[in-house]
Amino acid sequence: MAETQKRIWDLPVRLTHWGLVISFFGAFFTSEGILLPLHVPFAFMLMTLAIFRVFWGLFGSETARFSQFVRGYGAIKAYAAELKQLRHKSYWGHNPLGAVAILSILSGIFVVVIAGLYAQGGDLVGPMADTVQRQTSRLLTNIHIIIANLVMAIVVGHIFAVFAYKYVLKDNLITPMITGTRPANADQPEPRFTPLPVAVILLVVAASISSLAFGYWGLI
Ligand code: HEM
Ligand code: HEM
Repeated sequence: MAETQKRIWDLPVRLTHWGLVISFFGAFFTSEGILLPLHVPFAFMLMTLAIFRVFWGLFGSETARFSQFVRGYGAIKAYAAELKQLRHKSYWGHNPLGAVAILSILSGIFVVVIAGLYAQGGDLVGPMADTVQRQTSRLLTNIHIIIANLVMAIVVGHIFAVFAYKYVLKDNLITPMITGTRPANADQPEPRFTPLPVAVILLVVAASISSLAFGYWGLI
């Protein structure tokens, strides 16, 4: 059947993705040294985008919705078995294993940021650290560091996976995450896209929630 380029990812999904890349690596690599003052601002951006992505997964465009791409254990197992034989069905949206990575990354980000709010080190004190006992803060600092490294390991696996799709399975997922379009059969229906102003409103709500958590509200 003839193939044409069709829109798969809307602008909010793509901007959120590349914003997550910048803010995650940004927060991770400023956790020590002279760039430490940027650790919390990057984390604020990360938290805002992660909250926004959850909203977009509930109210956003069809291909962004959790209900569209989160599948049960059976589907994940069947897909993994296909992959083992180096064949896979190309999904119009995230595949079942990708969905597991996405949920792990997003939930890991929430644990890291929330624990970070209560963390403290020599040169950096989380905005909520004073509200808990010293011992609790110490425990949350350890959780913060361990889970941040665990999320980094999952992210490295995620990046490795998308390159394996490109070079081993010959399925380029990266270009669509930049341009928003990918080759499709002529009979592939256009997904339903949620209007951009809805994204702007949800982003403002997400930024307000993060501002409250980070104590920025009091500064305005
Ligand atoms: C609420 C936002 C955050 C706050 C307030 C915060 C605060 C802190 C504090 C107080 C420390 C301990 C520093 C020390 O031991 O001297 C720390 C370490 C660390 N943070 Fe965060 N953090 C936040 C977000 C993040 C995020 C989003 C990431 C990852 C993307 C991250 C990754 C790390 C890592 C890897 C370390 C360990 C650094 C080391 O090896 O000593 N943090 N953070
Ligand atoms: C340069 C490094 C990265 C590349 C090349 C990359 C590439 C991709 C690609 C191609 C997809 C779409 C997969 C598909 O078609 O199913 C994707 C999805 C995703 N990636 Fe990455 N990624 C990178 C880094 C990251 C980082 C650092 C994070 C988070 C900390 C992240 C989180 C996600 C999430 C949450 C999705 C789902 C997108 C959505 O539906 O909103 N990625 N990534």
